[in-house]
Amino acid sequence: MTTTQPRIQWLGRWGFVLAATGSAVGLGNIWKFPYMTGEYGGGAFVLVYLVCILALGVPVMMAEIALGRRGRGSPIDAVRRVAAESGRSAAWSLLGWMAMLCGFLILCFYVVVAGWSFSYLWKMLSGGLAGGSVDDMVAIFAANNASPLNLGLWSTLVTVVTMLIVGKGVQGGIEKSVGWMMPGMVVMLLVLILYGVFSGGFSDALRFLFVFDAGSLSSEGLLAALGHAFFTLSLASGAILTYGSYLPAGASIARTTLTVAVADTLVALMAGLAIFPAIFANGMDPGEGPGLIFMSLPLAFQAMPLGTLFGVLFFAMLSMAALTSSISMVEATVSWLCDRQGLSRRAAAWVAGGVLWVISTLAMLSFNVGADWTLAGRHLFDWLDYLTSRWMMPLGGLGTALLVGFVLGAAPMREELGLSSAWHALWLYMVRYVSPLGILVIFVDALGIVSVEFATHWPFLLGLLLAISLGGELASPRLRRTLSDSTPSREGVE
Ligand code: TRP
Repeated sequence: MTTTQPRIQWLGRWGFVLAATGSAVGLGNIWKFPYMTGEYGGGAFVLVYLVCILALGVPVMMAEIALGRRGRGSPIDAVRRVAAESGRSAAWSLLGWMAMLCGFLILCFYVVVAGWSFSYLWKMLSGGLAGGSVDDMVAIFAANNASPLNLGLWSTLVTVVTMLIVGKGVQGGIEKSVGWMMPGMVVMLLVLILYGVFSGGFSDALRFLFVFDAGSLSSEGLLAALGHAFFTLSLASGAILTYGSYLPAGASIARTTLTVAVADTLVALMAGLAIFPAIFANGMDPGEGPGLIFMSLPLAFQAMPLGTLFGVLFFAMLSMAALTSSISMVEATVSWLCDRQGLSRRAAAWVAGGVLWVISTLAMLSFNVGADWTLAGRHLFDWLDYLTSRWMMPLGGLGTALLVGFVLGAAPMREELGLSSAWHALWLYMVRYVSPLGILVIFVDALGIVSVEFATHWPFLLGLLLAISLGGELASPRLRRTLSDSTPSREGVE
């Protein structure tokens, strides 16, 4: 029962870019990236991360957007249609199922974390963070988690707000809300950075983030950069593919992808410049980890002039970053419910929200009354994180790269991307060999099958890449055919 109406599209020129950047910019940028940078060697890590974004993230993101726009549907329908167009099996839609499920499952624990952010915004506003020491802050964080009613209320609030926005539709809900939340977020970040410039610790923060020290780079850091490049761009979870399905035909996929990747990276760096001055000005440890923004930062703000005001600004910014991500995580499911189950947008949002509420409430209980409910040593919260980030995202990314690289005919991607021959060949090489190998390396290492040591294994890895590229090219004449066919049907679009 597929609807035959033409698919709705973003209204404004910046609709897709703002929505996709909103999806990409989240807790991964504001909390995880600055902290990883500190742990894995500052500037050297930043450089490696940029390379990973370009080599792994950008090609796969382009593939996802192209699949979405070509298939004009939820991940399941889009992938099935695109596969059918090339005469491939409908079983490829399993890739779409996994992506949709992955986004939904991430959201089930993401709303809990977003709930922390909302509750801290409230605590900042109401003076609930009074305390003079790190121990006080640890106690406040623990107390916040200990009450299921309190924690559940905040995650429920995030769920309801997310569904209200998504229920209003692509243009009236998502596009409209990201249209003010993203600029608002950037303005708040800039104000926070400016505050850091004047309140001390800024030069330490700059040094911390940008001084290049190659010796400080470890294999662990490289792997973390690879994995994070994938996570931070919201890949393999249905979000970007579904947003791509609303992209107007004339927009350049390469250009929009680069814009989103650059914006995502800039926000991550800016977050570092907003957080670390306060940490350094108060002589705190930048490598604090999970506690950094919920424990050290509130304490640091309190010790500074007008700190409460800027603390409010920080958590408001974080809450918005989380919201623009959460709406994208559920969009694949909602679009599928509308297209395939014939529900209205609003009904689809409430059905998805109801299921989300039940699972996320159970996940939230992992922090209090359900502390003993574990399976194989993991709570539901940890299971959701583990399944999505360790299994579903790498497998989905691998599947996407292989699908567009080897399985589909050359023409559809050629048409969607509209690149010149040389750029298209580069993109094809990336999705065929570089991205899959990169993903495999993270996957194999994360599962503990082999421990990858870049310092000693790099000649082997490089040799492997060359060998499989050569083998792959010899075995498949398609690339050569693609190259000799130098008349892309949509050159110079935009
Ligand atoms: N990119 C988001 C962040 O940096 C996290 C994320 C991962 C995500 N997968 C997603 C967001 C899918 C939306 C949809 O925090």
